Amino acid sequence: MPRRISDDLISEICSENDIIDYVSQYVKLKKSGRDYSGLCPFHNEKTPSFHVSQEKQLFHCFGCGASGNLVQFVMRTENLDFVDSLKLLADRAGIIIPEDSENFSDENHELKKRILEMNKLSARFFYNMLKDKTVGARAQEYFIKRHIPWKTVTVYGLGYAPGTRDALLDYLTGHGYTPEQILEAGLAVEREGKIYDKFRDRVMFPIIDVRGNVIGFGGRIMDDVKEVNGYKIPKYLNTAETPVFDKGKNLFSLNLAKNAKATELILCEGYMDVISVYQAGVKNIVATLGTAITESQAKLMLRYANEILICYDTDEAGTKATLRAIEIINSVGGKSRVIKLKGAKDPDEYINKNGVEKFREAIKKSVSSTEFRISLIKGQYDTATTDGKVQFINEVVNIFTSLKDPIEIDAYMSKVATETEINKEAILSKYKEKTSKNSYRKIPTRQEFKKRPVQKADGTEQVVSSSLLGAEKRLLGLISQSKKLCRMVQEEIKAEEFSTEVYRKLAEKIYTAYNNGITPDEAMILNEFSSNPEESNEASAVFYNLEIYSGDEETVRDLIYKIKLEKLQLKINSETDAQKLSELFKDRQNLLDKRNTWEE
Ligand code: CTP
Ligand code: MN
Repeated sequence: MPRRISDDLISEICSENDIIDYVSQYVKLKKSGRDYSGLCPFHNEKTPSFHVSQEKQLFHCFGCGASGNLVQFVMRTENLDFVDSLKLLADRAGIIIPEDSENFSDENHELKKRILEMNKLSARFFYNMLKDKTVGARAQEYFIKRHIPWKTVTVYGLGYAPGTRDALLDYLTGHGYTPEQILEAGLAVEREGKIYDKFRDRVMFPIIDVRGNVIGFGGRIMDDVKEVNGYKIPKYLNTAETPVFDKGKNLFSLNLAKNAKATELILCEGYMDVISVYQAGVKNIVATLGTAITESQAKLMLRYANEILICYDTDEAGTKATLRAIEIINSVGGKSRVIKLKGAKDPDEYINKNGVEKFREAIKKSVSSTEFRISLIKGQYDTATTDGKVQFINEVVNIFTSLKDPIEIDAYMSKVATETEINKEAILSKYKEKTSKNSYRKIPTRQEFKKRPVQKADGTEQVVSSSLLGAEKRLLGLISQSKKLCRMVQEEIKAEEFSTEVYRKLAEKIYTAYNNGITPDEAMILNEFSSNPEESNEASAVFYNLEIYSGDEETVRDLIYKIKLEKLQLKINSETDAQKLSELFKDRQNLLDKRNTWEE
């Protein structure tokens, strides 16, 4: 869960980063009037409709409506969440964000920073060793043999750790690090009082987090099996746990996969799988780091995707791991599907054998996790026989009891009933028998589901005109600029009377700021909307409304009047009670009268 970072700190981070500076990395900006403008990075365009205001520290695209403050710009371009975007900006400005309030200390922060620096240096060292004609020759050959061209080597920052015992140790001590510090970073190991390089004679895979930090490494031997003095050398070695590296909390290649901005993320087992698939053009793929998937990895993936496509090895271990992954993803409330590959042991082999188009087809043919589970059970019984059918149904009902979505249960029950030609009512009663009396779950019919009302934040639903929304938007923009105008509005319209959730929140924020004697800070207010890009667009557009530069008391009065009138009209339209209706008419007359006295 995102930690709470204090407003003061957010404010400091924002003020230490200039939006023009930052955006210029992505967009060629030209000064135009009060603003800067350029081609929008969020949609395709030929003429610039993307504007950035230095004064307000906001961006706004008049073409696609993307709008927001610097943090939200980072969120969109880097595809990071609010906290990680803030961290990125903090890093840029050299500001320290407490990790978690309990165990945070400057010392801890310094340690992490040092390890990250050592990792970065090491990655560069391994890369240079791979590049070296002599030292890296075998490793270069190895990658060629695995169909990995140099371009991919640079994308992943792959490398080679020389076979000697102290190549990296020498390099890092040369950069001023002590052997103890190198141990602490997990880059060396100690045996019988001697310290040596942990990774020796291995091709190296840096593990990079979503913020671009090298947090650890995986290293592979270049043979299929390797024995030294009868001792079998492990195929892969990974960095052990360090203050910056936790195998269960990170994923290989998520830093690249997140930029694909796909609605699905493919999860596979191996580094090589990820690399092969990625270089073939399917970029939304990640792998765990040599362990089974954990809940925090599942949550991490679900921050970037709606659905996880599991694509594990095709052996029995892979199938078991798939079932486990389905369970883990389920337990954190995520959805998963399963990609089945035929005729290859893993995605890497599959894509090398069959090409990327076949892999894309396999993605299209992926089955829901429930279907996968059912088909596995079906494979264990001969459902052509009556006995087989009975056993199959008994097993399958266990799957149903583990599902939460009543529609899914109903749909699969129907499917199984049709396939086995067993009455659905019978399956349903078996299911009811298994779900205990207390936790008895009613299965709503599709009809009931369709009718379920959707509630908005204020509990009601209504259709409002775009002119009303326009008036509210303009009014909010105006009052954010002037305490006097805000007072006028505050007396007439309560925050909760605005039509959308976003406007209600904005009104609340602006009112509160003035009430506390401060001028509202638009860019800061916008941070509240960071969890939802549509809301942040809507909120930011209020502030990025060029009309707000001109507006006086009269404009405000007009707007208040217009809004009140429209709101009353909405009530009148939906009121059926005659008594209440006549009161509403009276209200409307009062409003019109008041309006006339304004005009005098
Ligand atoms: N792994 C590990 N330690 C091992 C073996 C495997 O940490 N001794 C992890 C690695 O993260 C590896 C993943 O498990 O990427 C999958 O293992 P495997 O399928 O054996 O390796 P691949 O990545 O497929 O690599 P290759 O194709 O080179 O065998
Ligand atoms: Mn594999």
